[in-house]
Amino acid sequence: MLLNKALAALLPLVALVAPTFAAFGLTTSGSSWTVDTAGGLVFTINSSNGDITSMKFNGIEAQDSSKFSQISSGLGSASCTNVRTGNSDNYILITCKTSTLTQYYVAQYKTPAIHMAT
Ligand SMILES: *[C@@H]1O[C@H](CO)[C@@H](O)[C@H](O)[C@H]1NC(C)=O
Repeated sequence: MLLNKALAALLPLVALVAPTFAAFGLTTSGSSWTVDTAGGLVFTINSSNGDITSMKFNGIEAQDSSKFSQISSGLGSASCTNVRTGNSDNYILITCKTSTLTQYYVAQYKTPAIHMAT
């Protein structure tokens, strides 16, 4: 009985310290589109200009947060779309277009990388 009480007291603690498993997906907040790769990398794209505004690896910001990351000096103004696609929906594709250039960002389930193409 004593053991049961001790276990009952421990259970909420276990729930608190258990690792939270990140879910693969894209969430939006205004123009910021945040992709969780479920592989330790969470990155954010500004859907108004295609900049990568954040790359967090295991919770640690891995890029400059004032200049961001972009192709050459940036797309300027872009129109972005996103879709979950591919084999078993294991990919998220973000496409950012200007009148002259299209930039692609691809995230793969459980892969801590951003695949890019123009
Ligand atoms: C996103 O880009 C727009 C257009 O360049 C800019 O006005 C806005 O401040 C940017 N947002 C973030 C979070 O960087």
